[in-house]
Amino acid sequence: MNILVINGPNLNLLGERDKKIYGSKTLTEIEDIMKKSALGHKILFFQKNGEGEIIDILHKNRKWADWLIINPAAYTHYSYAIRDAIESCQIKAVEVHLSDISSREAFRRKSVIKDVCLKQFKGGGWKAYLQALSFCLNYE
Ligand code: DQA
Repeated sequence: MNILVINGPNLNLLGERDKKIYGSKTLTEIEDIMKKSALGHKILFFQKNGEGEIIDILHKNRKWADWLIINPAAYTHYSYAIRDAIESCQIKAVEVHLSDISSREAFRRKSVIKDVCLKQFKGGGWKAYLQALSFCLNYE
């Protein structure tokens, strides 16, 4: 199984950014944990701050990836372009958030990505990524 993991804007600052909300692990630490938990499946990681860059990665890897695990960060709430890219690439997708977006500011409660993903994991910090990975590995 080939798994593509994409993290959106500002997630490169995990470990320094708002630790009370996002926890103290860096993105590299989270990626290392995922790699170790991937049971030998191929897993590719990207972090991009630009909407177009995220879409380009989706396009380039659309034939390779069986699964997409994506934390679109702030794009979650308004990027119809990323939403359409996920839909067009026809990769099975899982949406992840470190924080519980449903209990934060009003603008974060809406995900325009959710309906093109098979599942959304939110809250619980970095463990949400492991929940997403486990969902992919156990999906039938
Ligand atoms: C986030 C939640 C978003 O609202 C925010 O813009 C982020 C991170 C999360 O993982 O909790 O950058 O996606």
